[in-house]
Amino acid sequence: MSENLDEMRNSRRDFDHGELNENNLPQDPLFLFKKWLEEAIMGEVEDPNAMTVSTVDSDGMPRSRVVYLRDLVQEGFIFYTNYTSNKGEQIRDYGKVALNFLWTKLDRQVRITGIAQKIPAEMSDEYFAKRPRESQIGAWASPQSKQLSSRQQLLESVAKFEKEFEGKPIPRPPHWGGYVVIPNSIEFWQGRTARLHDRFLFELGKDNWRIIRLAP
Ligand SMILES: Cc1cc2nc3c(=O)[nH]c(=O)nc-3n(C[C@H](O)[C@H](O)[C@H](O)COP(=O)(O)O)c2cc1C
Repeated sequence: MSENLDEMRNSRRDFDHGELNENNLPQDPLFLFKKWLEEAIMGEVEDPNAMTVSTVDSDGMPRSRVVYLRDLVQEGFIFYTNYTSNKGEQIRDYGKVALNFLWTKLDRQVRITGIAQKIPAEMSDEYFAKRPRESQIGAWASPQSKQLSSRQQLLESVAKFEKEFEGKPIPRPPHWGGYVVIPNSIEFWQGRTARLHDRFLFELGKDNWRIIRLAP
């Protein structure tokens, strides 16, 4: 094994960025999530809004990829993507997703499970209209997750749509938009010293969140 990988196997760091306890938890996990996200942004965590989204395919095989969280609303977590991508098809077929945020600088992880639903078209329109023009062209030009014969094919597709929309505003493609992930469980993990980490799981009951502490 290379020296770098040897170091990986043997490296251990301690975690000392505060604690979570029964007395400082809100009733609603989205309040705590928002606080942690704001702390990640203020703490200059790189890509604080990057999250892993996992879906399942027709064989029950989990599939993960990173996307950006773009909004936090009362219902849950919003991200934007191509509705006909692999993740889009898996969400259409099964709806169940898991999200994972890792904020290493703060020794924090948040794990979420829930159901993803398309957001209203007007909301996607509004967000799409604010994207840079090249991202708007990209949404039209890239058949996300489909096989390309070459990079050239992609560049030609971009050129085609640039020509088509020259001098005009670019409408949102019907195959592109947002999902809101409506959570049914959220676990907060705060690293502590000596591997005695704090973990709190919020599970949605009939009309309130049940909170339990989990062993690290
Ligand atoms: C930091 C980062 C942010 C990303 N953000 C998005 C995003 O917001 N939306 C998106 O569709 N893909 C995003 N991607 C690309 C996805 O990881 C993935 O490659 C793409 O969505 C296709 O996934 P799928 O084939 O599983 O559907 C991002 C990738 C990285 C590394």
